Amino acid sequence: MQINVTDKPLEEIEATCEIVLVVDKNFDHRWIRDREDLKTLGFKGESEETAFLPHQHRIYVGAESLDRDEIRLAVAKAITTIQKTTYDRLKIGSYTQNCPVTNTKAIVEGALLGEYRFDTYKSKKEEPIERTLILSLEDYGEKKLDLEPARNAIAEAAAIIEATNLAKDIVNTAPQDMTPAKLAEKAEQIAAEYDSVTCFVGDEAFLEAQKMGAFLAVARASSNPPRLIHLIYKPENPKGKFAFVGKGLTYDSGGLSLKPSEHMVTMKSDKSGAAAVLGILKGAATLKVPFEIHAIIGACENMIGGNAYKPDDILTAKNGTTIEVRNTDAEGRLVLADALCYAQEQKPDYLFDLATLTGACVVALGEYTSGVMGHSSALKHEVLFSAAKSGELASALPFNRYLKKLLKSEIADISNISSSRYGGAITAALFLDHFIEEENKERWIHLDIAGPAYVEKEWGYNKPGASGAGVRLILYWLKERQYKLDNPHKKER
Ligand code: BES
Ligand code: ZN
Ligand code: ZN
Repeated sequence: MQINVTDKPLEEIEATCEIVLVVDKNFDHRWIRDREDLKTLGFKGESEETAFLPHQHRIYVGAESLDRDEIRLAVAKAITTIQKTTYDRLKIGSYTQNCPVTNTKAIVEGALLGEYRFDTYKSKKEEPIERTLILSLEDYGEKKLDLEPARNAIAEAAAIIEATNLAKDIVNTAPQDMTPAKLAEKAEQIAAEYDSVTCFVGDEAFLEAQKMGAFLAVARASSNPPRLIHLIYKPENPKGKFAFVGKGLTYDSGGLSLKPSEHMVTMKSDKSGAAAVLGILKGAATLKVPFEIHAIIGACENMIGGNAYKPDDILTAKNGTTIEVRNTDAEGRLVLADALCYAQEQKPDYLFDLATLTGACVVALGEYTSGVMGHSSALKHEVLFSAAKSGELASALPFNRYLKKLLKSEIADISNISSSRYGGAITAALFLDHFIEEENKERWIHLDIAGPAYVEKEWGYNKPGASGAGVRLILYWLKERQYKLDNPHKKER
């Protein structure tokens, strides 16, 4: 979708369809011109409610407020409806409330999220229509209009959603088509698009040389060999170095601790952390953030076979830690243990990992919310703040010493599962914590995206399937960091 901005009043813009957000329940706004029709249709202007009036060339959509996420939701709903029509030239007021940036971004994000669809495997594809959305900034207060900030906001929002939609495409791709080697090819394609991005792909021999015994054990039973993928975005004079590690299980059957069939289906989504870090890197490169960004992925399949790793095996991770395997379905933490050791060799200022790590996180927070874990309260606060702005739902889950003890092993340094069935999202994070060096404890955040990364039913502006969880959240966080760098004395926005 092409998105343009103008200072022309909405009425003067030529378009085939106008999108009108209805915030006032009394329909008291000059853009709401079909009050009687709306009443006849029983339209109340509630969140996610739409009324399409094709003869008037207008679509009305309810919004509880003009908060960013209400706007995203409303615009996405409108676009989803318009997608079924032939209308290709759309217009909308900017609902800017005296700031040409915040809600412009929300409108663009909503439009591009609403437009997403994944039809790779459909033999009959809908004819794609190239649409244009024109934003009128006329309601922007009394001040003289400067379109530049709005244009920048549009470009920023488009970069963030393109990165999110890239992550969705990767996750939605069937596991036979997105093997570790194919994921590595995808990373190489991203690197080829930018002069500022380089890509390294390590194969099994590399993993062996790196002594990544935990990662190799998980990967062993698959006929699709593992890959360690490492992308670097390097701007001129970077103002910091941030590493993002992604769990890239292109399939998780559970291994010998085999998942029951109803839990195995959707496990192509176990590569969502990897897809997110690829999206984050691409977004960061497009946005030209002033930080060096590392995206590190442990990509493999957790399968069964005569050579599969098994419960009772003892693995040795890259840092020499011995791990007692008690459940082969707790494989993500094994892959991440080695990937996190590798990431720390890059000496990052901040270290994040993103992973569909535990079903327990979904039980704790529901399927729409990511779990945020780590030692630094300040960093967790920053992440939750950026999550709220981005529209992603996230909540902190606290560590404690008693849960940490539950990972004790009688025979090795640590067990790969907790001895208790409770607090599984936190004990998984505490397993990862074992591989975080003392000097990096306060720099590290673990994001468990097992809930929102993949939901089979449509929710909000997310289509069924992958949501690109983590991408918007982290890109907002990076932009916030950049803002702090540029405005050291200002408070959070
Ligand atoms: N990939 C799963 C976690 C998951 C569950 C992701 C549901 C998305 C939706 C992970 O590898 C797993 O199987 N974890 C186990 C851990 C257990 C054996 C300690 C789980 O959550 O049951
Ligand atoms: Zn598993
Ligand atoms: Zn898994």
